[in-house]
Amino acid sequence: MRTLIALCFLAFVAGASADCGVCKTMKWGVCDGPPCACTLVLGVGNKQIVDCNNLIPKCFLMKAEMHRARTNQSTRSIGGKPVETAFVDNDGIYDPVCDANGGFKAVQCNGTETCWCVNSAGVRRSDKGDKNIKCEPVETYWVRLQLTHNATSSIPTTEHVKIAVENVLLQRYSLQKTFVKKVEYDPDARMIVVDLEKPKGDRSVDLPLVGYYMEKDVKVLPLFKDPAPFKLTTASTDVPLNNILVYYVDEVAPTFTMKALTGGVIAVIVVVVLAVVIGLLVLFFLRRREQAQYNKTQGREMEPMS
Ligand SMILES: *[C@@H]1O[C@H](CO)[C@@H](O)[C@H](O)[C@H]1NC(C)=O
Repeated sequence: MRTLIALCFLAFVAGASADCGVCKTMKWGVCDGPPCACTLVLGVGNKQIVDCNNLIPKCFLMKAEMHRARTNQSTRSIGGKPVETAFVDNDGIYDPVCDANGGFKAVQCNGTETCWCVNSAGVRRSDKGDKNIKCEPVETYWVRLQLTHNATSSIPTTEHVKIAVENVLLQRYSLQKTFVKKVEYDPDARMIVVDLEKPKGDRSVDLPLVGYYMEKDVKVLPLFKDPAPFKLTTASTDVPLNNILVYYVDEVAPTFTMKALTGGVIAVIVVVVLAVVIGLLVLFFLRRREQAQYNKTQGREMEPMS
């Protein structure tokens, strides 16, 4: 009887630790129990419960990364547009405000007085403004991954590259093939362009999150706990990826103002407008003086008559 209890206990401990040992989808995640729960530290005294069977929301990831950078823990070191309204993330990381599910709040300020609007990928989609900036939540429904690679032992076919990309997206990031709209391959440029797209209005899948995990994998800073390295393996050869650029296309076009219309251009416009206004004023006063002069002479001529 005693051995039975001991065995049950051992089995329970073994089961618990097997289920609760690691956070597969986030190397900084910590799983503890019983009852087993996995958490990610987002800030001082801010432990977020996360689901380590799925990709962790990007907003939580960014927050954790900012916290680690601030507390000197190890963290990140390091085609063309699909459509005219597509844009890239030039700002990089900031300390985001997340909603309860790990979504990005539409307004982000990075803990300062300067704020801006972001899309569902947390990427800035407006000019920077003050704290009163008004933003609507906007979904990113199309992500273009522009990948480049090093020399391969043989040149794979576009079809083989496409299958390899679809497989890695499914196996590593659990992304269904239906969302892989297009894979193009240029062997001379050693470039692979992958379009991940969902119907507008679809909220079932977070495509930029897949892009984010892949970005980290290509830059050899994987977010996964699993030491299995990221690899793109075609039927004929391994394709060693060396860089990735991510374009975002939102359901509503971003509202950046023309970048050219800054500094010098604005100064020139101000000077021209001022010159025109002064010219008009001078003309106006000259006319009035002429009018006054005319009235005076008229008045003098009238005098003897009265
Ligand atoms: C956010 O603030 C941190 C400093 O706390 C800074 O390093 C980072 O560049 C800022 N990011 C943006 C996008 O402004």
